[in-house]
Amino acid sequence: MSSTAIIQLLNAACSPYRQAGRFAWHFAHGKLGRDPAFKGMLQLGLLSGDSEIKVLDIGCGQGLLSSWLLSAQAQYANGEWPGSWPAPPAIAHVHGIELMPRDVKRAQRALQAVADRASFEVGNMCTAHFPPSDAVVILDVLHYVDFSAQDDVLRKVHGCLPEDGVLLLRVGDAAGGLPFRISNWVDNVVTSIRGHKTLPTFCRTIADWQRDITALGFSVRAIPMNAGTPFANILLVCKKGAA
Ligand SMILES: C[S@@+](CC[C@H](N)C(=O)[O-])C[C@H]1O[C@@H](n2cnc3c(N)ncnc32)[C@H](O)[C@@H]1O
Repeated sequence: MSSTAIIQLLNAACSPYRQAGRFAWHFAHGKLGRDPAFKGMLQLGLLSGDSEIKVLDIGCGQGLLSSWLLSAQAQYANGEWPGSWPAPPAIAHVHGIELMPRDVKRAQRALQAVADRASFEVGNMCTAHFPPSDAVVILDVLHYVDFSAQDDVLRKVHGCLPEDGVLLLRVGDAAGGLPFRISNWVDNVVTSIRGHKTLPTFCRTIADWQRDITALGFSVRAIPMNAGTPFANILLVCKKGAA
């Protein structure tokens, strides 16, 4: 993060987490400040468009994406926006689904002031109902369930999106060599620090992801989303229906 406008955005998106406790604020600052996916999706205009959108964030953790997108919209409206970036998405609503009740509580506490535009529920993506949405975001979550469950989740995503709806799916590239092994190791460490049991994970190569997601009815573009990190993370920008 460098320009003043980006630092202001980071501070605005982290600030609500002060009321959710020190851990929540530090975690927000570390994650939003260092994870290139948050900055990248705005810089590349991956969710931007002419109309207001409803976003579904699957495996939303403590709701960082909601805070990031709503803060981006507010910063833009105040004229505090990086000159070279496209306008941020106009957010009608962000809904997060998350397995861990503690994370959901933190998200709800932090974003209570915007509860009419950011809602969160405790749920398992494998069984939860996905509300109709214009865009779905799944960052670093699908690998926790087996391949057939991943495909079921993606089918439900396809079903909740309109034609031309977008899915942003970040995954580790199983063909990514050492950076992929580092991602997995860090994922295991973070999972145990957050109090979860570490379980096997299920990863595919990017070529396999592209083939399998295309077969489900999306067009897929792969964008490296690991700048400044030692990981093999790729953001798959999937558009429903486009050939
Ligand atoms: C690596 S974290 C990513 C959090 C968030 N997407 C982000 O990028 O900040 C993965 C999240 O997915 C959640 N998760 C794992 N399995 C899930 C499932 N079956 N349904 C819903 N959430 C799940 C975890 O509890 C965790 O909060």
